[in-house]
Amino acid sequence: MAHAQHSLLEQLSTNSSPYHDPLTRLDWEALDINAYWLPPEAISLYGTREYDELPEATRIRLSQYEFMGFIHAGIWLEAIFIERLAKNLRHTQSAAELAYYLHEIREEAGHSLMFLKLMERSGLRLPSVWRNRPRMADFLGRHAPINTTLFWLAVTVGEEVPDKLNRFVRTQGETVVDPVIRQMCTLHVIDEARHIAHARSALDASLLRTRNWQKKLLTPIVNRLIRQFVQTFYLPTVDVYELAGLNRGRVWRELARHNPARQAFILKCLNPSLNQLRRHGFAVKDPVL
Ligand SMILES: [Fe+2]
Ligand SMILES: [Fe+2]
Repeated sequence: MAHAQHSLLEQLSTNSSPYHDPLTRLDWEALDINAYWLPPEAISLYGTREYDELPEATRIRLSQYEFMGFIHAGIWLEAIFIERLAKNLRHTQSAAELAYYLHEIREEAGHSLMFLKLMERSGLRLPSVWRNRPRMADFLGRHAPINTTLFWLAVTVGEEVPDKLNRFVRTQGETVVDPVIRQMCTLHVIDEARHIAHARSALDASLLRTRNWQKKLLTPIVNRLIRQFVQTFYLPTVDVYELAGLNRGRVWRELARHNPARQAFILKCLNPSLNQLRRHGFAVKDPVL
């Protein structure tokens, strides 16, 4: 392993200790189920006439269920990360690499446990965590050969797409979003910054061995991956709308899918990641819902 990567792993592991357990760090007693859980601009229907006409109580409920949909998808994705990291333990080349992977497993487990706790405390939940997951992202996440460019592309895209929404809640939610939810997003962003630093550095190393024709071949797969992750994390499922009290969820979901403000919001969140991939030589398209 290159020297630079080795010292990055050691630095990240140092920053991961002491471990901060989100289950004990968050003030669950203070959770407010009458507050927004997403800033209004991050709600899928924001910007439409129909949204403006909704009573405030419905908008708040919708923000809560959309956040629940977001964390349900998070449990699915983190299960994939944990599965891959655990399988790769036996292939690690050094104690530094082994330690780093173990830190990342512990942190992802902490995130998913905090999601479960939120479901339990609030009583809000969706029918299933595992249903309707995007097939290609699920398959590549679980089976792409370790340490290939494709593998690290899938990891970086999978980490950055939801991270951007956490960052938005953290920075734009000061006035309206329930402080417990904001704190949750903050804890997640802090851990995720290390995971992303590691994934990006592994991707950079892998790209040194990737030829231009290989990048061309990978580009359509990357585009599909981005689209699947974006749909999973930014386009709520039909049950989200119905549980929030909006009947005929299918109609509301289509409204969100064709909402120009939603499209603009997604691009604003994801442009830095998309541009980074473009600089790496992948001709990625703007994702559409
Ligand atoms: Fe996480
Ligand atoms: Fe992560």
